[in-house]
Amino acid sequence: MKASILLLPGDGVGPEVVAGAASVLEAVASRFGHQFELHSALIGAAALRQNRPPLPGDTLAAARKANAILLGAVGDPAFDKGDSSRRPETALLQIRRELKLYANLRPAKMWRGLESAGPLKPEVVDGTDMLVVRELTGGLYYGEPRGIAPDGSSAHNTMRYSRDEIERIARRAFDAARLRRKRVTSVDKMNVLETSRLWRQVVTDVASSYADVSLDHMLVDSCAMRIALAPASFDVIVTENMFGDILSDEAGAVVGSLGLLPSASLGDGTGLFEPVHGSAPDIAGKNIANPIGAIGSAAMLLRHALGLEQEALAVESAIGAALTAGYRTADLAQGNERKIGTTEMTSVIIDAIRP
Ligand code: IPM
Ligand code: MN
Repeated sequence: MKASILLLPGDGVGPEVVAGAASVLEAVASRFGHQFELHSALIGAAALRQNRPPLPGDTLAAARKANAILLGAVGDPAFDKGDSSRRPETALLQIRRELKLYANLRPAKMWRGLESAGPLKPEVVDGTDMLVVRELTGGLYYGEPRGIAPDGSSAHNTMRYSRDEIERIARRAFDAARLRRKRVTSVDKMNVLETSRLWRQVVTDVASSYADVSLDHMLVDSCAMRIALAPASFDVIVTENMFGDILSDEAGAVVGSLGLLPSASLGDGTGLFEPVHGSAPDIAGKNIANPIGAIGSAAMLLRHALGLEQEALAVESAIGAALTAGYRTADLAQGNERKIGTTEMTSVIIDAIRP
């Protein structure tokens, strides 16, 4: 297969973990006999520093043309004071909207051997294997009107959802559940929010065409608690944009480190794949970031954008093999376990990739 893949390394640890994931893609190409053309473009603070907008026009054009996009992270404290046109995060919101990437899949599973790497008890986290399906182009992130009063005395955002937006993300969640344990938990705040009442109603309507999948509903506050108390009880969680942002970080803590979580942002065209962890400026440039979130995102790219399931599984089992063999980046190491860096973890995983 021939595919063109756009790399958007971005900010913070983004370039380091994307370099790792890109070399994994190259290894997959050579071991399975594919031709992947990898190109790079600027995004986020990396673009702002070159006096370009956070999402330059040529980056967006290249994104539309690619078969898939692999993104590192955006965000840089140096630009925290700017207005939204000069914030790195704006790039991510724009590219999600421009490419209509409304479905964000964030799987969080417990890798064998990491049960005691996180703060929760091993017997609580054991068996965790959940998928957060986060709506990505609606809700508070995009709702109008929004703004801050010129004198700073107040600010407002708008939470808005249409029936169509809820329907299409619900379908994605039920479709995903069919390939898993066939259980969907829809998360909302219907005791307070009208958008949530519509959400619950529409998800329930969609469920009627998925008789083989079970559906339950949970309020977001109680879901947050339940993820900490009984994470293994979840299969697929479907929820609106901001709730999904928050709950997926929590899921990262459950499985040992946010650095492990991959994601896929899908619409009807080119998909974008990125680790959930963000730019982590405090550890950037030190070769200590965990590349597994980015490498797992490359696996999702192979599966969802290129239809290469066998290759995706080869990458995922290589990640599993590295962890089972005891290799640990700093975020995963316990006590005096030996720590390896970003590039070493990448090499260990590449060595374990077999057709
Ligand atoms: C994420 C990030 C982004 C979000 C930020 C960087 C805009 O936290 O992808 O989870 O809130 O969606
Ligand atoms: Mn987030």
